[in-house]
Amino acid sequence: MRYSKVAGTGSYLPEKILTNQDLERMVDTSDEWIRTRTGITQRHIAADNEMASDLAVNASCEAMAAAGVKAGDIDLIIVATTTPDVIFPSTACILQDKLGIGDCPAFDVQAVCSGFIYALATADMFIRAGKCNAALVVGTEIYSRILDWTDRSTCVLFGDGAGAVVLTQSDQPGIISSHLHADGSYSKILAVPGSICGGKVRGKPFVMMEGNVVFKFAIKVLEDVVHEALAENNFQVSDIDWLIPHQANIRIIISTAKKLGLPMEKVVATVDRHGNTSAASVPLALDIAVRDGRIKSGHLVLLEGVGGGFAWGAVLVRW
Ligand code: ACO
Repeated sequence: MRYSKVAGTGSYLPEKILTNQDLERMVDTSDEWIRTRTGITQRHIAADNEMASDLAVNASCEAMAAAGVKAGDIDLIIVATTTPDVIFPSTACILQDKLGIGDCPAFDVQAVCSGFIYALATADMFIRAGKCNAALVVGTEIYSRILDWTDRSTCVLFGDGAGAVVLTQSDQPGIISSHLHADGSYSKILAVPGSICGGKVRGKPFVMMEGNVVFKFAIKVLEDVVHEALAENNFQVSDIDWLIPHQANIRIIISTAKKLGLPMEKVVATVDRHGNTSAASVPLALDIAVRDGRIKSGHLVLLEGVGGGFAWGAVLVRW
């Protein structure tokens, strides 16, 4: 049987840090409100001349070095992003060029905060089907460009960054299973409802959301999809070594762990330092936990995400 396994991880955070104290000077908010409602203390903000593909280049180079693969070995590129460099070509094609990767399929996945989960599941299927041997899978976002910096209810929540993995062919899983869902009836609850028409922006090109609805929905599906992944593979919650949930809000992460009966010691949380980096949040948290030695060979790791669409999902991995 053909499977895929994670051969290397990488991540990148822009140099500039925006603290809660900085935000206090920009909008009517407080460090105390942001920390107690979200757990966030700071987030990174991309420089004016940095694009999502630039963040992706840095994360990808780290992941390829960790995997011991060269640009010429990569035969599939999938980039998950809600903030592409331009409308087209895809950020994956731009990344391919910047990394000097030759002819191979390259495309973007748009599933907002669950984008990396969708991209990883897709790359795994390409590898299992024998269509490629070494896939570069990236989540990269510059949310600072789609935030209304006068709207305190959204601008304090997000940050910029990128995370990447190299998936390679393996005789053993690796990726055990993936579970993807979407319910478009929630499409207006969390959206950037702007579009471009005749050279002008039509509608609001900023993140809009009904925070409470998102909060309740996220807690429900983040629990459900963990049970789904475990049940399909005859595992128990106690078998999980590490849960890496989407990093939107520490209260969502704590509630999910509590409902699952999973101790927080087994949950990777980076939202305090990164804010919500959407499609980049899971691979960023994954890379940090791999590099600091928490995730070790043989561990059972559950990655999960939820976001606009609504779209959500999980990938179960044997490290
Ligand atoms: N600073 C100070 N006060 C604020 C701020 C702020 N930055 N933002 C909102 N408030 C005020 C509100 O105006 C409101 O004031 P009022 O009571 O006088 O009307 C009060 O705080 C409470 O507002 P709520 O929206 O009820 O606060 P809540 O406790 O629900 O927290 C939050 C809001 C943090 C957005 C929460 O609903 C949440 O995290 N939701 C999930 C949304 C999310 O994470 N979205 C990211 C994308 S989706 C995803 O990644 C899953």
